[in-house]
Amino acid sequence: MILDFKIFTSIQEKKKKIDEVRPLSKSLVNKIREQVIIEWTYNSNAIEGTRLSLKETELVIEQGLTIKGIPLKDHFEALNHKEAILFLEKTIKKGNIKLDSFLIRQIHRLILYKIDQENAGKYRDVQVKISGSSYLPPSALEVPIKMRSFDKWLKDSKNKRDLIDYSALAHFKLVNIHPFIDGNGRTSRLLMNLILMNKGYPPTIILKSDRPKYYQVLDFAHKGNVKPFIDFIGKNVERSLTWYLDAVTPEKRKEGVDKWQLLSQIAPKTPFSQEYLSLLARRGRIEAVKKNRDWYSNLKAVNEYIKNK
Ligand SMILES: Nc1ncnc2c1ncn2[C@@H]1O[C@H](COP(=O)(O)OP(=O)(O)OP(=O)(O)O)[C@@H](O)[C@H]1O
Ligand SMILES: [Mg+2]
Repeated sequence: MILDFKIFTSIQEKKKKIDEVRPLSKSLVNKIREQVIIEWTYNSNAIEGTRLSLKETELVIEQGLTIKGIPLKDHFEALNHKEAILFLEKTIKKGNIKLDSFLIRQIHRLILYKIDQENAGKYRDVQVKISGSSYLPPSALEVPIKMRSFDKWLKDSKNKRDLIDYSALAHFKLVNIHPFIDGNGRTSRLLMNLILMNKGYPPTIILKSDRPKYYQVLDFAHKGNVKPFIDFIGKNVERSLTWYLDAVTPEKRKEGVDKWQLLSQIAPKTPFSQEYLSLLARRGRIEAVKKNRDWYSNLKAVNEYIKNK
């Protein structure tokens, strides 16, 4: 296993806790699911540069509204991403998933639907560059061969690797080949989540605010050092579990030091200012989750930090 052992243990503990509160009520599951679809779509498309805000994304995908001043393409991107998530859910429900380039192309076809029909679901026939990165993906000619060996890797590693390593490496390997003219990032994040969700994990959302870090660890990976990327994904899986666990825990059970609160509510009960807690949260020094624009943490997490400082 490449993933940091501390992150691994924490993921296991949280996943166990989530499994313990199952089965969840249908209405709660639906509420969480809707929110996750919006947050995932917003963040994944925002990494790519869409201009829709979180609220606008919700209006577009939940109510079919058109936002004035925003290009049609951005609307399709939001709608397509939601369709792609629904496709993942259907695929998981059907069971017996065959993870391969055929499935990856099906996802990609949904992502570029109506945006670039000619290239949707098809490998590129030109060289691409990744802006901001010195890494040059393989030539168009090599793409089909590389994808075939990726298929083999997906199949051979499925039961041999730890789940987080496997899902993160699948993401990395796909952006490393960069088989499509556009939409590689979104497709890779969907593939990673298909793997995770299929094992009962909530979707892992890479936040727009984490884009610089995400690109940096991908760059290390292209240079041969995959560990920082896997740890980065691991931390994101852990954060998504924390968020999910909080959402499924009944209010009455959330008391005392375990209670998740806004940093402004916690700060007066700690030696730190809200700003400092926010810095610690952003740097991942205290356990914290971001919901909408606000950071949440709990007193236990701050006490842990003080203890281990
Ligand atoms: N060093 C890097 N810097 C930036 N992106 C990288 C790097 N290495 C790989 N990538 C991947 O390339 C993706 C961008 O490729 P592309 O434009 O085809 O995908 P996209 O889905 O349109 O955009 P995005 O992934 O940004 O949403 C990034 O999201 C990231 O996953
Ligand atoms: Mg792009």
